[in-house]
Amino acid sequence: MKKIQDFKVKEYRWLNETGYLLTLYSDQTIEPVSPGNFAEIKVPDAPDVFLRRPISIFDVDYENRLLTFYIKVVGKGTKKMGELNPGTPINIMYPLGNSFTVNGEKNVLIIGGGSGIAPFILLGRELQKKNISTTFLFGARSKNEIVLTEEFDKYGRVLATTEDGSMGEKGLVTQHPVFSDISGFDKIYICGPDPMMKAVAKIAGEHQVDCEVSLENMMACGIGACLCCVTKTTSGNKCVCTDGPVFNSKELAWQI
Ligand SMILES: Cc1cc2nc3c(=O)[nH]c(=O)nc-3n(C[C@H](O)[C@H](O)[C@H](O)COP(=O)(O)OP(=O)(O)OC[C@H]3O[C@@H](n4cnc5c(N)ncnc54)[C@H](O)[C@@H]3O)c2cc1C
Ligand code: FES
Repeated sequence: MKKIQDFKVKEYRWLNETGYLLTLYSDQTIEPVSPGNFAEIKVPDAPDVFLRRPISIFDVDYENRLLTFYIKVVGKGTKKMGELNPGTPINIMYPLGNSFTVNGEKNVLIIGGGSGIAPFILLGRELQKKNISTTFLFGARSKNEIVLTEEFDKYGRVLATTEDGSMGEKGLVTQHPVFSDISGFDKIYICGPDPMMKAVAKIAGEHQVDCEVSLENMMACGIGACLCCVTKTTSGNKCVCTDGPVFNSKELAWQI
């Protein structure tokens, strides 16, 4: 159930110059979270950051009442959240949005770029519990932007592409050899920059592979009230915060 809850900063761990894991703890029980859900985080000690910031839930530890987020710095809010002292109170609204669907697939491909890797630890864990074979493919400009591979490795095979060739295959994710036999997968899940998601969705469509995308549109309220996050779908405009963030690529009225 959606809830506004007080947490405190437990710790954060910087992974490279712009990305870090932020772990929060609470005195209260953690609400059940599904892969793909996000939180709206009120950035503390930042009077110039008015709105809550939407961030995917990277990991959850119900026993120890912990929530972890993977955050990439793009502006004031994401920078500030990486500078908070342990013990700083932080208020979040969660779990928000829908989640990825898992319907008896046998072999799936998960593609992530940038902060788009964030929803995929929870998804990888759920797929593993269901004995679904999982391949992760991460794309970035360079090796130092590919992070947390040892975490994803626990849940499946990890592949990478980098634009400068410093790790994995050189090029874009769609140039990875795994795409030469894409019909071997019965589903693709993707979260990342729009051009990456559109390119993958196009190939998935051409090969009749089911494809779910998680959109990261700009948001304000996070609860369907302000309409600032709408995306065009085949059945009209939909709010990414409440109808998404996960959509089947066939639903999206993308120009691809
Ligand atoms: C459902 C959802 C889940 C998300 N999950 C994560 C996550 O797990 N980890 C993570 O690091 N980020 C995630 N994001 C993106 C994150 O919300 C934004 O990066 C953040 O709100 C920016 O806040 P800021 O104050 O740092 O930047 P601002 O100062 O608000 O903006 C700085 C710059 O970033 C641009 N920007 C702001 N928000 C977005 C956005 N959503 N997409 C593209 N550009 C943007 C602005 O146009 C501006 O140029 C998610 C977004 C959504 C909608
Ligand atoms: S963010 Fe307000 S309606 Fe989606």
